[in-house]
Amino acid sequence: MMGDHPAGRLSGLVALVTGGGTGIGRAVARRFVEEGARVAIVGRTLERLAGVKVELGEAILPVQGDVSRAEDNARAVAETVAAFGQLDIFVGNAGVFDRFVRLRDIPVAELDRAFDELFSINVKGYLLGARSALEELEKTGGSIVFTGSTSSLAPGYGGALYVPAKHAIAGLTRQLAWELAPTIRVNAVAVGYVPTELGGLRSLDQRGGPSRPEDVLPRIPLGLVPTPDDIAGIYVTLAAPRDNRYLTGSVVLVDGGQTMWGPPH
Ligand SMILES: NC(=O)c1ccc[n+]([C@@H]2O[C@H](COP(=O)([O-])OP(=O)(O)OC[C@H]3O[C@@H](n4cnc5c(N)ncnc54)[C@H](O)[C@@H]3O)[C@@H](O)[C@H]2O)c1
Repeated sequence: MMGDHPAGRLSGLVALVTGGGTGIGRAVARRFVEEGARVAIVGRTLERLAGVKVELGEAILPVQGDVSRAEDNARAVAETVAAFGQLDIFVGNAGVFDRFVRLRDIPVAELDRAFDELFSINVKGYLLGARSALEELEKTGGSIVFTGSTSSLAPGYGGALYVPAKHAIAGLTRQLAWELAPTIRVNAVAVGYVPTELGGLRSLDQRGGPSRPEDVLPRIPLGLVPTPDDIAGIYVTLAAPRDNRYLTGSVVLVDGGQTMWGPPH
């Protein structure tokens, strides 16, 4: 129990956030702690995760693991429950990007490995995480929040691998909401562009940074480039029992209006 936050919207709850060491996941972990939750964060690099614990203290449990591996997901849930006693919120968030690669530009010989890399993290990672968390979430009547994307809803905000994978997350959200009602609510956040270090595909030797804010800004109707913190509040709302009793199977678009104007061709 976080005595420091008696009135927090997530007071007394325990969350597990994959990809919680950086970017959107880190901002979500920080906001959850501010709202009174204790949060396990899963990522590949223990050093980064430890940095979050230095920032946020005892309410953080770093768990090193690869979300594409079943045993790592199971261990993350077990360590969370061992440390904090329960699990109320699972946030599937760890992901990689395909740097807008078009199908024609992926050599046939490399498509197999590229598909496996992206889908094993962005789709299988969410499935394994949700499956591992299921029994604990049933005990608490908890909820699942997935990080989707504008690419969950429309083409052109990613490439030939990322867009179908994020569409799969919209499907997974709806299917799990249907399967798990009335016990567990399942929703997703369809995030628009946020400058982070979101990595490309090793299998395609993708290097270089993510999109530059100055290139994307003219395509954002609200006229601002968000930070991960601008996105984090909606995760609190979707997870908070008091603020959300009646929302499940929803993919909530948080994109500054980007999809209204559409992607560049
Ligand atoms: N940044 C954007 O513009 C944007 C837009 C829409 C959706 N998203 C989604 O947001 C989520 C978070 O991305 P971000 O932008 O914060 O970037 P990020 O790189 O900061 O976060 C992704 C995290 O996932 C972790 N990760 C990757 N593969 C992993 C694995 N196999 N096992 C464990 N951890 C792994 C990374 O180490 C990193 O911490 C992703 O699902 C991404 O697709 C991002």
